[in-house]
Amino acid sequence: MNQYPGKFITLEGTEGAGKSTNLAYIEQWLTAKGIEVVTTREPGGTLIGEAVRGVLLNIEHTKMTAETELLLMFAARNQHLQEKIIPALEAGKWVISDRFTDASYAYQGAARGIEYQRISELEHWVQKGFAPNMTFVFDLTIEEGMKRVKARGEATDRFEQEKQTFFEKVRLAYLNRASQSPKRYTILDAGQSLEGVQAQIEASLVKLTRGLK
Ligand code: TMP
Repeated sequence: MNQYPGKFITLEGTEGAGKSTNLAYIEQWLTAKGIEVVTTREPGGTLIGEAVRGVLLNIEHTKMTAETELLLMFAARNQHLQEKIIPALEAGKWVISDRFTDASYAYQGAARGIEYQRISELEHWVQKGFAPNMTFVFDLTIEEGMKRVKARGEATDRFEQEKQTFFEKVRLAYLNRASQSPKRYTILDAGQSLEGVQAQIEASLVKLTRGLK
């Protein structure tokens, strides 16, 4: 639920599925409609959140427990909501975030094995029922995603060092969550051409912006 005047859109998926490229596309599309847009990411999005991101992604932090990881995700999220997301939505701006709470269910829940009930308690505490208006799930085989990540040539972070089975769990969790609430989620076949993905995105954005002046 989002009771604010602005709308909140989130992008989810496994690594290398094309979230960043398409975030820019969504931003351009909405801006062309005269909507004021704020783009951001999780973990991160604020000075404090980005510092927490550094802790979470640091490959030296091999001793981090799943629970610590989850709590840090929600600590960063709390700051993000209060400092950036909610003020923007209150001002009527639309916010697009590269990942949000669905990632905690997929990564810390399905892949790391924390019970969904635990995650949902934190979600209620931090978000008080607040949720995105629309979530795009970029779905891609893990092999293809990994190929794309390698081709970027950047150093891998603590999550990217996980095994294929970890990411298979993440992928399935996203698909399951999306199939349970088809109104909020759009599953995108990220293996098709960029034009194909963007046509699918546009169809959802048309629905979301229907009725706007
Ligand atoms: P990114 O690679 O999309 O920038 O995200 C950084 C990593 O953080 C990514 O591997 C997914 C992970 N993540 C979680 O595990 N839980 C979360 O709640 C969020 C927001 C991200």
